[in-house]
Amino acid sequence: MHYDYLIVGAGLFGAVFAHEMTKEGKKCLVVEKRDHIAGNIYCETVDDIHVHKYGAHIFHTSNKKVWDYINTFAEFNNYINSPVASYKDELYNLPFNMNTFSKMWGIKTPQEAKDIIAKQIKELDIKEPQNLEEQALSLVGQDVYQKLIKGYTEKQWGRDCKDLPSFIIKRLPLRFVYDNNYFNDRFQGIPIGGYTPIVEKMLEGCDVLLNTDYFEYRKTNPDIADKVVYTGMLDKYFDYKLGVLEYRSVRFEHERLDTDNYQGNAVVNYTEREVPYTRIIEHKHFEFGTQPTTVISKEYPSEWKLGDEPYYPVNDKKNEELANGYRELAAKEENVIFGGRLGEYRYYDMDKVIEAALQAAAAQKAE
Ligand code: FDA
Repeated sequence: MHYDYLIVGAGLFGAVFAHEMTKEGKKCLVVEKRDHIAGNIYCETVDDIHVHKYGAHIFHTSNKKVWDYINTFAEFNNYINSPVASYKDELYNLPFNMNTFSKMWGIKTPQEAKDIIAKQIKELDIKEPQNLEEQALSLVGQDVYQKLIKGYTEKQWGRDCKDLPSFIIKRLPLRFVYDNNYFNDRFQGIPIGGYTPIVEKMLEGCDVLLNTDYFEYRKTNPDIADKVVYTGMLDKYFDYKLGVLEYRSVRFEHERLDTDNYQGNAVVNYTEREVPYTRIIEHKHFEFGTQPTTVISKEYPSEWKLGDEPYYPVNDKKNEELANGYRELAAKEENVIFGGRLGEYRYYDMDKVIEAALQAAAAQKAE
């Protein structure tokens, strides 16, 4: 059998691309090294609860075209992400808004909150922030920084905020309204039934090989397709010849508990440094679940080394320059399309991945 496209990776990018080209009558083969489809949006069903195995995934977008597109594969519920922060024995609403400030300072009006923040910033008198700590303090003042930013950020990066560069935090949005909706996007929700069925539908009509690593597969099948769509790690494709691109990783500890409601919210951030995890996700609340049991996932940020699961690209100068070197090589590679979060070494939300895959498919259709 000969294919028009060999698609490496059954994640969202690969699946959208495969769907679009199959619709055009092209033959697509998808190879996936894991034992399941859907990449990082894969959901495992436990006690009828859809567990986001590779981290919480909330769909949000302001792109109506993408929203309409994804809604052809699933019905979305009306979940609104409203995380809670736990600091010692205090609980605060996120993102930083009037509910947060009212709880922190016992105030009621936006003007009172603005005055307190302005006073704290003035007292600190930071002219040119030299590190992340000073940058954050100069944007939000002592209280919000100490209780809600410091410990969380230090756990995320495995380093003291004083040792982190200030550019990591450019802005810290403060909302002077009573609104706990984390995202500013026009559309938001969780697909009823989880994300895996979406990808299943997208892949209808293509051949899929699971447990198949592309680099092994191509040794024995070098001419299986006219073109390759590669959504694996960019540096790996070139055998790391310019160097290794770095990532931050996360370790997830999933637990099934015999209680119907563990924390009363899907997302709780633990903002003190002494608690080793950054967040606990209680998956059933994404779908307003009423099951008698629950599943929670604790997220432990971790250092990454080659061979670990790559999660977040490191956006510093060194890695960006290295990635640019690889991107130049990728542009010269004939009949190979590089796409997705790993193939482009870019943090991509799901809506942006769909946009990019639709664009890549449109370019193929136009050829
Ligand atoms: P993805 O990684 O999903 O797919 C690539 C696939 O290629 C994988 O299945 C991999 O196994 C396979 N592969 C790699 N190398 C291979 C090889 N050599 N041979 C065969 N197969 C190979 N976005 C959002 O909109 N809302 C959210 O709430 C979140 N939350 C979130 C949490 C966390 C912890 C992370 C890290 C990311 C998010 N995201 C997100 C982003 C979201 O996960 C992302 O947009 C998509 O999963 C990207 O889809 P891709 O297809 O690009 O990659």
